[in-house]
Amino acid sequence: MATFGIPNGPWADRYHAAQSTMTTHFQHLYRFRPRARPTRAIFLTITAFFLVVVLLWRPSSQPTENYWLKYPSYRSSQDRPEALPIVHKGKPTFTRNDTLPGNLQKNNPSFHLIIPAKRKSSALCRMLTSAMILNYPPPTLINYGKKLSEGAKEYDHMKDRIASIYNFLDKTQHVHDNDLALILDGTDFFFQLPPDVLIQRFQNILKENNAKLAKKYGLVIVEKPSEQGAPETVQKYTQRVLFSASKECCPGLSRDAGCVAVPESSLPPDIYGWKTDSPSYRTLARPRWIKPGAVIGQVADLKAIYAEILRFIEQNRIPRGDSIALTYLFGRQEYVRELERRRASNPFMEWMYTMIGISEASNLTGLSPRLEAGRRYEHGIGVDYESRLFFNTWKSTRDVEWLRYRNITKTSFAQMLHNVPRERRLLLPDDLAPERVSNPFTQPIFGKNDPPLNPPINETLDALPHPGFYSWRKFPLLTNVHSASVPALICLDGNPSLRSTWWSMMWYHRWARALLRKYVRSPTGFEAAQSALLGGQEWWDLRGGRGGIWTEKGEWFDYSEVCVGYEKEVFHDGLGKWRQENGESDEPVYNQFGQLVKGKEGFSPS
Ligand SMILES: *[C@@H]1O[C@H](CO)[C@@H](O)[C@H](O)[C@H]1NC(C)=O
Ligand SMILES: *[C@@H]1O[C@H](CO)[C@@H](O)[C@H](O)[C@H]1NC(C)=O
Ligand SMILES: *[C@@H]1O[C@H](CO)[C@@H](O)[C@H](O)[C@H]1NC(C)=O
Ligand SMILES: *[C@@H]1O[C@H](CO)[C@@H](O)[C@H](O)[C@H]1NC(C)=O
Repeated sequence: MATFGIPNGPWADRYHAAQSTMTTHFQHLYRFRPRARPTRAIFLTITAFFLVVVLLWRPSSQPTENYWLKYPSYRSSQDRPEALPIVHKGKPTFTRNDTLPGNLQKNNPSFHLIIPAKRKSSALCRMLTSAMILNYPPPTLINYGKKLSEGAKEYDHMKDRIASIYNFLDKTQHVHDNDLALILDGTDFFFQLPPDVLIQRFQNILKENNAKLAKKYGLVIVEKPSEQGAPETVQKYTQRVLFSASKECCPGLSRDAGCVAVPESSLPPDIYGWKTDSPSYRTLARPRWIKPGAVIGQVADLKAIYAEILRFIEQNRIPRGDSIALTYLFGRQEYVRELERRRASNPFMEWMYTMIGISEASNLTGLSPRLEAGRRYEHGIGVDYESRLFFNTWKSTRDVEWLRYRNITKTSFAQMLHNVPRERRLLLPDDLAPERVSNPFTQPIFGKNDPPLNPPINETLDALPHPGFYSWRKFPLLTNVHSASVPALICLDGNPSLRSTWWSMMWYHRWARALLRKYVRSPTGFEAAQSALLGGQEWWDLRGGRGGIWTEKGEWFDYSEVCVGYEKEVFHDGLGKWRQENGESDEPVYNQFGQLVKGKEGFSPS
């Protein structure tokens, strides 16, 4: 494999770019049937002229450097995050009375939720509560309880955070390269939709975008050394990880490739009306730039990206170096892709597309990023322009409405109120249809022989609406009216004033305590074990564990250890402390660093 990186390697000259575009264009031309002879004559002359030009121009474009090889970009076509069998479809094949075979291994990739959080806070507890209610895997908190030495600067905290995330991905035994990970940088997030919706959307976006990238950049046939089998046709560039999108580029980099050469947003150019993208109306810009904060992808890809970020911030000791590094990374990736696209494209076609105004070229004017031959700039980075996964509130708080999709009067006017051109009726996304996603109010069924429920059912505390009467169509869902999407995750990027109001508007807020109790109570024992081994939906992470969080060191903290004391901010229901609602409790009480303060030791992770 190492030879792939060598620009002048033994098989470099055997590389062929697929040039199917040409033929298709001529097929299109031939379909026009001129009516009169003079027209046909003119048409044929022009075609002949174009042909000559094309034939004369092509050879001159051949000897230039192959950027796909110069900056190693190879990815095997077998290794695609969008094809990961991560969402478990179908029913488990065991019945309750079967015994589990001792050698059963969990063979599908896991899904990890990674959150750097040093200490408890109401923001962290809201985030954890929303993740648990929606059945996300138990999160892993990075650096929880860690204190840096006195006098640590902003830079030190940032570097420590990035290094710890990288080390977790790199060194943890149960985190495998082909697992999926969602890394959220901080605690200002609310989950809105369940994890299977998030993961399937991620995979769908990759499929859509990769089809577009295959068309734009073409394919390449990689001939392998004979012992490795037949030649492989791979797409030159693919998308593999998704970051959230921002309306603003990282400040201070306006002359960098990361701000200039990155693709345009996939939203229509007038989606915010005629002032869209005008420099004097920042809130009316289409999200286009990369925004650190939320990212989803395979562990191996994220590890490579975090390694680059870490390398950059170690060389440049500047605050906010992580944002800058990420902007650089994305910019250089797109810069190299554009160089390669220009090299492989036909200059005549380029010229014609520019004339018609459908050129795909990105603007490289005045850019000259420093690139080193033999280094990988291709990281498969993409951005979620339409906020189907991540909605970032930065300069965007006015783009949203809280819609109940059953109320058609409201949904049909929403786009008009926001001046969206070419309105279309906002409909509940397909992946939230009742047959695709379970009703969050359905209570699990418990048998007589099950162990006693913990916590026991209490009519007051566990009151939930009947699932038949309440469903996704009736919940108020935060909707990005412009892109017509219901994001799975909301990033309240440095907007603390919204935290409480938006939290109280989340669909689960009214029933947060009952839903959390339902989550914590979910079956343990046989079903849990089976489900964990099979990679069932509720047990994404092999370690299992319920109603708590892990740290990167493998310690387990119960939800109450982290979040007791924040009930007012989280539940706002006046029912008192979590798990101590009736006044007494035998729950152990821990201090901030996990030491037992009162009560007896409960579940321990080892
Ligand atoms: C499990 O075993 C019990 C008692 O042996 C039996 O009544 C029940 O039908 C069995 N359930 C299934 C699903 O096989
Ligand atoms: C490309 O960028 C340069 C410098 O930023 C600018 O002057 C030029 O107008 C841009 N060209 C196009 C076609 O956008
Ligand atoms: C639907 O929305 C409209 C406009 O906000 C509101 O006046 C009406 O009461 C809503 N209807 C229902 C059934 O919630
Ligand atoms: C249920 O919870 C409420 C509120 O904490 C409490 O007043 C009531 O006594 C509980 N009921 C039972 C049967 O435990």
